[in-house]
Amino acid sequence: ASTLGGSAAAQGRYFGAAVAANHLGETPYVNTLNTEFTSVTPENEMKWDALESSRGTFTFGAADRIVSHAQQQGMQVRGHTLVWHSQLPGWVGTLGAADLRAAMNTHITEVMRHYKGEIHSWDVVNEAFQDGGSGERRSSPFQNKLGDGYIEEAFRTARAADPAAKLCYNDYNTDGVNAKSNAVYNMVKDFKQRGVPIDCVGFQSHFNSNSPVPGDYRQNLQRFADLGVDVQITELDIEGSGSAQATSYGNVVRACLAVSRCTGITTWGVTDKYSWRSSGTPLLFDDNYNKKPAYHAVLTALGGS
Ligand code: G3I
Repeated sequence: ASTLGGSAAAQGRYFGAAVAANHLGETPYVNTLNTEFTSVTPENEMKWDALESSRGTFTFGAADRIVSHAQQQGMQVRGHTLVWHSQLPGWVGTLGAADLRAAMNTHITEVMRHYKGEIHSWDVVNEAFQDGGSGERRSSPFQNKLGDGYIEEAFRTARAADPAAKLCYNDYNTDGVNAKSNAVYNMVKDFKQRGVPIDCVGFQSHFNSNSPVPGDYRQNLQRFADLGVDVQITELDIEGSGSAQATSYGNVVRACLAVSRCTGITTWGVTDKYSWRSSGTPLLFDDNYNKKPAYHAVLTALGGS
């Protein structure tokens, strides 16, 4: 096939992008999205502060616009994200434990019900582990007030709310074998052994010169797959340009294709113009929506031309 999405589909995978609702009026943005991608992740519109900025009042407008665009185009939607320490409205941090537990479960249930049957995979919990060598949980209202058990509670609540959605744990700096990915691995292994509902693990894959594509990326994806979960590359972007960037992108795609349970790849944006790395050029299309060498490397790795 001649597109990313078409070539990925021929390999039984989706190829997605993070999308911002406020760019859906820009013709070249939409044309590139519709032509090349088969899945979308709302970049910010499904985060807690966007959906429930005051307790019990839900605002779905911007997220709904992305979902309906995707549906009109036959694209899948990844839900991002239900429980995360960041982009959390201030009121959540003021609650005592019992109230916080209720608010977490209500948030998950209301959001997943609103999108029931419309979301392929949900990032139920995002970035719950610290960086560094300890493998410890990250400080957050959920961790600090509810303890380790909040993660499995979130997954159980999510399963009840939309039994058809794949439920993912998503994190960064877990792309290679290291102390942080070991901690996530041990959690997933424990969940599978005890029947806590988890279907997939997302590897964000934000790479740069300090954090290049790990040499053991494929091996790490495979060890998670061997636990009985799907793996997804959920927020891919790679700083740099030219052939070095292209080679790294090709390596990521080949690692995913080598793991049968690696079901899809999402880049964290469509164009360098709107990347969260405001000064960087980490994506597949440049500021003018021209295809970069990295684009061609990905297409080739997917078997397209
Ligand atoms: O919407 C407000 C706008 O009203 C305001 O005028 C403007 C002024 O700063 O801010 C806007 O909000 C910004 C939001 O993006 C939407 O553009 C926030 O300041 C900004 O912090 C926020 O950044 C997002 C970031 O997550 C926040 O943590 C990035 O767009 C988004 O790409 C990034 O995505 C995260 C994933 O969710 C999780 N993994 C890491 C990844 C990259 O950081």
